[in-house]
Amino acid sequence: MENEIELKENYGSIPKIGDVAPRFKAKTTQGDISFPEDYKDKWVILFSHPSDFTPVCTTEFMKFASMQEELKEMNVELVGLSIDSIYSHIAWLRTIKEKIKWNGLENVEVNFPLIEDIKMDVANKFGMISPSQSTTQAVRAVFFIDPNSVIRTIMYYPASLGRNFDEIKRVVQGLQKTDKEGIATPADWKLGDDVILPVPGSCGEVEKRMKEQDDETYCLDWFLCFKKEINKF
Ligand code: BEZ
Repeated sequence: MENEIELKENYGSIPKIGDVAPRFKAKTTQGDISFPEDYKDKWVILFSHPSDFTPVCTTEFMKFASMQEELKEMNVELVGLSIDSIYSHIAWLRTIKEKIKWNGLENVEVNFPLIEDIKMDVANKFGMISPSQSTTQAVRAVFFIDPNSVIRTIMYYPASLGRNFDEIKRVVQGLQKTDKEGIATPADWKLGDDVILPVPGSCGEVEKRMKEQDDETYCLDWFLCFKKEINKF
């Protein structure tokens, strides 16, 4: 209840990292969905795009669809959204499958749900509209939501800039790895690179960390220690 009151107050603004993602029900190209109920124990990438039948969005949808299986193997479900009708969505997705060849991708079928959000209800709960840009189109937002429905990362791009799909995958890999191992990742980290150990919280722990370096770890200074990932992949 407290969460619901707070969300009404924040209607239209972007929820923050660490917030529980707003609940919603929506009509989509794959039938009705309820979040979070339909996504129990799963990661969700909820993303918005400005409009159907636009060039940048078309390339992005082809990329998202081509990654869907790989993401499913990582326990991640995709959900798209734009301020268009379900009929527009269906017509656009059919056009993509039947007519568009791009960058080695063709005959691409979009099997993940694309939300109809004519009333902008879901878009406003997630702050996907930036009124100074457009009051009728969403920006390119991406919400990475964990299995506890907590928002873990947010990307927010303008209409003219297509998203980087290697980065989208890297964010999922990084979030899942940091959750599993309690480590952090350095700048430009990618799967297989060395990772950062938590900073010691006391002088005693510093001493211990510096003395106990072994074949698996190395420190550049007491506050910057790495765990080797060599040969793990
Ligand atoms: C596009 O997807 O190409 C696009 C959409 C809205 C504004 C500009 C570009």
